[in-house]
Amino acid sequence: MVVLVTGGTGYLGSQLIRVLPKIAAFKGETIRVLDNEFRERYVSLWDLPKGVRYEFLEGDIRQEDSVKHALADVEVVFSLSDITNAPVSFERKELTWDTNHKGVLHLFDRAVRAGVRKFVYTSTCSVYGPTSGVVTEDAECKPASPYGESKLAAEREMRTRAAELGLDWTALRLGTVFGWTIGMRFDTIINRFTYLAAQGRPLTVYDTAWKEKRPYVSVTDAMQAYRIAATHPKAKGQVFNAVHENANMETIIGAIKQVYPHVQVTTTATPSLNQLSYEVDGSRFRGLGFRPKVGIAEGVRKLADKFHCIEPVPIPAPTLEA
Ligand SMILES: NC(=O)c1ccc[n+]([C@@H]2O[C@H](COP(=O)([O-])OP(=O)(O)OC[C@H]3O[C@@H](n4cnc5c(N)ncnc54)[C@H](O)[C@@H]3O)[C@@H](O)[C@H]2O)c1
Repeated sequence: MVVLVTGGTGYLGSQLIRVLPKIAAFKGETIRVLDNEFRERYVSLWDLPKGVRYEFLEGDIRQEDSVKHALADVEVVFSLSDITNAPVSFERKELTWDTNHKGVLHLFDRAVRAGVRKFVYTSTCSVYGPTSGVVTEDAECKPASPYGESKLAAEREMRTRAAELGLDWTALRLGTVFGWTIGMRFDTIINRFTYLAAQGRPLTVYDTAWKEKRPYVSVTDAMQAYRIAATHPKAKGQVFNAVHENANMETIIGAIKQVYPHVQVTTTATPSLNQLSYEVDGSRFRGLGFRPKVGIAEGVRKLADKFHCIEPVPIPAPTLEA
């Protein structure tokens, strides 16, 4: 069997390709990675576990040839190839839609034609947009960014088509992920703040964010989520919130201060509509056995440990002329 991971050199993909061979259902199988290196993470291909057959195709989910080659003999697809980063998606709307909607549906259609058995789609809690109360998977979605819109549209279309075809398809709406992988992203909040604190740089928090909560999940637990989505018989046709905790900045800064007690934190006015509060309910997925284990404090500690050789160098505050 061949297992295809698209976006397999990205932040989550680089960890998933290392974890899959340890899952009983995928032991001994070939792991094929398709990534166009939009994020240039060739480094993710270093030091892969020995004794596993890996294949790497530098190619694009929007291109016929790439997808055709990538899908040869594939039984299971993990779809992680997207233009990520919700705030930045306002500046690259077309590319975001072209990749996250058109490209992912292209991959899905070709996967169906190629006869894959299982398709696991990585969705996001950014599909919800502004909400009140704690939302379940059945809540109305009003995504507040081109990123969230493209992900929701792709998720919905795939779900409908998979149901019509009887295909085994599952979507994971991940909370914002934190923690170390070899293909690190530092443009998400917990990872970014830990990196800045490690350098001795100040953290700036939006005033509303101190109290408003958002859903988070560690990278370790995201891997557990993929395992359940791919192997649990009751995951078929379902969409799941894969979250550990809904946390506000008080919790996140508290976790960072446990490691970097002298970090400077300032508060600034909230500038944009992307600073929204939403809390997400994870009980449906817990019903399938999902048990997140790594909380924010532990995630920050482990990530901070990677910076242990860096001596914090406080940067002077900018002058008014700067
Ligand atoms: N990291 C998070 O906090 C988070 C939260 C919720 C959902 N997700 C979802 O998880 C998945 C993985 O995200 P990530 O955090 O690893 O992001 P990432 O940006 O690190 O990884 C995405 C990968 O996709 C590749 N890619 C982009 N366009 C492509 C294309 N046209 N063809 C082939 N490859 C392409 C990129 O080069 C990159 O390696 C995405 O679907 C994302 O929407 C991530």
